[in-house]
Amino acid sequence: MSTMNYSDKIPNNVNLAEDRTLQRALESWQPNFIDWWGDAGPEGSGNFDVYLRTATSVDPQGWAHFGYVKMPDYRWGIFMNPGDADRRIHFGDHLGEKAWTDVPGEHRANLRRIIVTQGDTEPASVEQQRHLGLTAPSLYDLRNLFQINVEEGRHLWAMVYLLHRHFGRDGREEAEELLVRRSGDENNPRILGAFNERTPDWLAFFMFTYFTDRDGKFQLAALSESAFDPLARTTRFMLTEEAHHMFVGESGVSRVVARTCQVMNELKTDDVATLRAAGVIDLPTVQRYLNFHYSVTIDLFGADQSSNAAAFYSSGLKGRYEEGKRQDDHRLKSQTYKVLEVQNGQLVEKEAPMLNALNEVLRDDFIRDSVAGVGRWNRVIEKAGIAFRLSVPHKAFHRNIGTLAGIKVSPEGKVIDAAQWEAGKDQWLPTAEDRSFVASLMGRVVEPGKFANWITPPAIGINRQPMDFEYVRFN
Ligand SMILES: [Fe+2]
Ligand SMILES: [Fe+2]
Repeated sequence: MSTMNYSDKIPNNVNLAEDRTLQRALESWQPNFIDWWGDAGPEGSGNFDVYLRTATSVDPQGWAHFGYVKMPDYRWGIFMNPGDADRRIHFGDHLGEKAWTDVPGEHRANLRRIIVTQGDTEPASVEQQRHLGLTAPSLYDLRNLFQINVEEGRHLWAMVYLLHRHFGRDGREEAEELLVRRSGDENNPRILGAFNERTPDWLAFFMFTYFTDRDGKFQLAALSESAFDPLARTTRFMLTEEAHHMFVGESGVSRVVARTCQVMNELKTDDVATLRAAGVIDLPTVQRYLNFHYSVTIDLFGADQSSNAAAFYSSGLKGRYEEGKRQDDHRLKSQTYKVLEVQNGQLVEKEAPMLNALNEVLRDDFIRDSVAGVGRWNRVIEKAGIAFRLSVPHKAFHRNIGTLAGIKVSPEGKVIDAAQWEAGKDQWLPTAEDRSFVASLMGRVVEPGKFANWITPPAIGINRQPMDFEYVRFN
């Protein structure tokens, strides 16, 4: 089961050949996907040979295969972790019952919505990143961008398989729609806000892959607990791919910060104008980018109190992060959880029924995880002997979803009025000037072994290749 069949037109480990109707339906979706890739995927890249990693089995060791691939020929396919025939539902009202191999009628609409919403983020991020290849700071970085892009394409395949296999005609229509919506399109945008933002430069890309791909990790982890076993198994495998995306983000920001610190020490200055003139990204600008991507990303977890979240949990559709490791009753009917609200002009915590607060629970798990990497960035700064520290803003800062939407809060967590927000926002969020400065640094560096001035080389090459390895051949 864990071996992947690459001889079929659609590589898979789900015995696709045994279900001719399904196979034909997916084979007719395949050319539409390729058209979408050509239209909305990495710009001008169709003829490049890219040193990509392709999964050969779903085991952790199954990632060994590296080789040059033209991206439109990438072997996108359908891969699931092996199943456990005895798997039991381990949370919610159906706790202890057998996991579902098919969709129960009463949960069909909600499951479809969950799968479509997840599926929609995958092509969205490819669309958001489609121009970045034109300004890559090195061949190493260009290759990593393309690796992420092809894997997000595969994540779309993963969700489309579930739609085709389990949701009949509705599922096939949703699969078509996933190729029609476009990130940022006024008339037909992607479903979630953060996936309609632009990713205009590589600092934004690294912040996106650090924070927003991590949202993906937490959503997938929660879905990997699902009572709907095919969804659980599919998302388990997707998580192995997500790890690389977050690595690209974390190491990318770290390399930006390291280069800035080098130049700060060489020039013995923290003066923003001097550093910008020297062609590196000043740390306050890095902080503003961080504030933006962090706040936009934590909105993705949804409203702090949500009856949908409660229903998804109780009915077994979506668990908590690491549900199986938690020591409680896994039903949560009588527990409470702290959520924020504003009283008399101040943020206060109040207890809400935990079932309704599960979006907040997942958001807090995300926050703990993302803070850890920010600490690692700070160690780079600390080692350079520089006093500046990066931090994540208060979780009420710059929010657009839930109780906190529309309330103005400073990065420190103080409720402020519109005038204070206006006065502070240019220190807290990237300004047009910040963005145009960062954009001015974005030049294409394609000579093997060379890196743009604003970023350090990585500690180690992909697949232990030497630093001057030709990760992308342009033809
Ligand atoms: Fe993804
Ligand atoms: Fe990702």
